[in-house]
Amino acid sequence: MKLRLNGKQVDVRAHPMKRLLDVLREECGLTGTKEGCGEGECGACTVLLDGQAVNACLVPFGQVRGRSVKTIEGLRGRHPLQQAFVAEGGTQCGICTPGMIMAAAALPKGATLDNVRVGLAGNICRCTGYEGIYRAVRKAHRARLTASASARSDSARATARPRRSAEREGGQGSGPRAQARAKRAAK
Ligand code: FES
Ligand code: FES
Repeated sequence: MKLRLNGKQVDVRAHPMKRLLDVLREECGLTGTKEGCGEGECGACTVLLDGQAVNACLVPFGQVRGRSVKTIEGLRGRHPLQQAFVAEGGTQCGICTPGMIMAAAALPKGATLDNVRVGLAGNICRCTGYEGIYRAVRKAHRARLTASASARSDSARATARPRRSAEREGGQGSGPRAQARAKRAAK
């Protein structure tokens, strides 16, 4: 089945009813995506599907045909979120971390603390107490805003140079997962 995986076109052979989580780990060798509960409750398996955060344990592989999937490996260890999680103590045992980072990557630019709480409400961490995670996500978002502001001013200065298209940012979404997150945050 053809799909775009971490920016590359791939053709993966797996049963369409196999969980995306298992296909990523077993057929694709991408073990950064973790399994916690296996039933859509913990967020450890979060990946981006066409820019939206989804629980890979709930997605049958057949549903990703022709679509774009991004896993933690797709951030290549150099994403501002990854650096901020290390700097701010947003990770301890690390089991929840890939899912937290992928959920945070789907937040809109300029996310407030409330946006971050709602966006990560479907991701459970047993170690950090969440404060380090929230600090890390806000720090990374500020870094991304600063980087895009400086890119805009560079582009304004270099009017003769062709503009590079910005990487598409994922939205927070309004599907069942986003609604579940909003419910949790409201508790
Ligand atoms: Fe998928 Fe817990 S393993 S939500
Ligand atoms: Fe251990 Fe989050 S760092 S569960």
